[in-house]
Amino acid sequence: MTERTLSIIKPDGVARGLIGEVVKRFESAGIRIVAMKMVHMTRTQAEGFYAVHRERPFFDSLTTFMSSGPAVVMVLEGDNVIARNRELMGATNFKDAAEGTIRRDFATDIEKNVVHGSDAPETAAFEIAYFFNQFEIVGG
Ligand code: PPS
Repeated sequence: MTERTLSIIKPDGVARGLIGEVVKRFESAGIRIVAMKMVHMTRTQAEGFYAVHRERPFFDSLTTFMSSGPAVVMVLEGDNVIARNRELMGATNFKDAAEGTIRRDFATDIEKNVVHGSDAPETAAFEIAYFFNQFEIVGG
């Protein structure tokens, strides 16, 4: 089933020059990038994006980090792409991530884990609409 998901190359990934590496992994896996832009979120924008986590102990730290510098946001499209993207990313904690995944190869701690990917169709719909309107998505 063709679906869409939101991917973010987080501020640590952009600062470390990993945009090309991450994009290459998506393209090599046959995942289509149908929208892409660079954003530097305000703290308020990051808080809105992560609103579901507002009660978690790491919320302040996570939203400070996500608004600390530019990030790349993308809409990915393909069969089963939500799960496939999460496979390419690896587990949230890089110490638990499988070999060959983005986080295993590049993450430096639980917060600076290089990439974000939507975890379900409902969250993907919310997250895509958070950053993109229909005219910014190719074929949208
Ligand atoms: S999940 O699947 O959404 O429930 O994942 P979860 O492990 O709950 O993590 C949600 C996001 O919070 C980030 N995270 C943290 N940031 C800072 N410190 C700590 N300790 C921490 N634990 C989790 C994690 O990277 C997830 O960010 P995203 O952008 O969703 O990947």
